Amino acid sequence: MPALKVLQLTDLHILPHAGDRMLGIDTEQYFQQTLAHAHATLGPFDLILLTGDLGQDPSADSYRRICRHLQTYQTPCLCLPGNHDDWKLMQTELNVDFVSCRKHVLLKNWQIIALNSQKPGCPSGFLSPEELIFLRQTLSTHDMPALLAVHHHCIASGSSWMDTMQIENGEALLAILEQFPQVKAITCGHLHQEMQTSHRQIAIYATPASCFQFKPFAAEFELDTLAPGYRIFELGDDGDLRSRCYHLPISMSGLQTNQHSY
Ligand SMILES: [Fe+2]
Repeated sequence: MPALKVLQLTDLHILPHAGDRMLGIDTEQYFQQTLAHAHATLGPFDLILLTGDLGQDPSADSYRRICRHLQTYQTPCLCLPGNHDDWKLMQTELNVDFVSCRKHVLLKNWQIIALNSQKPGCPSGFLSPEELIFLRQTLSTHDMPALLAVHHHCIASGSSWMDTMQIENGEALLAILEQFPQVKAITCGHLHQEMQTSHRQIAIYATPASCFQFKPFAAEFELDTLAPGYRIFELGDDGDLRSRCYHLPISMSGLQTNQHSY
């Protein structure tokens, strides 16, 4: 029995109005289905981690609808921004009861750290000096096993078009983490696909989107027909970490795979 169970959902791409569609699909409906499927088959969870691109052209209403869906599960939720998000608006709308935009949470003997990798006006990721100072200070103060969450990937994925949009100063991030052996894993979104690799002792994960997926190892934008997905973390008392991805048992019949961007 793990000490903690964490559900990661990412890249919701919730549209400004309920019922709106993107690439032929209703992203909000899939977000709800993903949440429901995870809870029905693997819940309850100690934490729900939402790792960016919560909104596509975000509005207050899109964040309020996300918040309403999350509140149903009465589970602490941590939201961090992706390149499509409005971080200021997120902090206004997603700080209610169970839902928050906190950057550091202590849970039993674990700590969860959420970083902001937004580079203003740009789809790439970047960690500002302030963000790196916050990370270093947090890890210096708390010597407990750490799971780090951030939207963009910090290491190449092999999808060359996505790798032009990874964290530009990913080496600076890894150089800090190397000094803190309590860091067990980094998990991200952004790639809309599953990835599992490592850097020294640190596991590095990417998680499928709760809407449409991208083809792995692609040179340019290409949609995959895989169903919406999510990731589960099991965090043990002794600092061990296990993780697995799951997909909804549905086919993506409405997905417009002939589209060339998103
Ligand atoms: Fe995304």
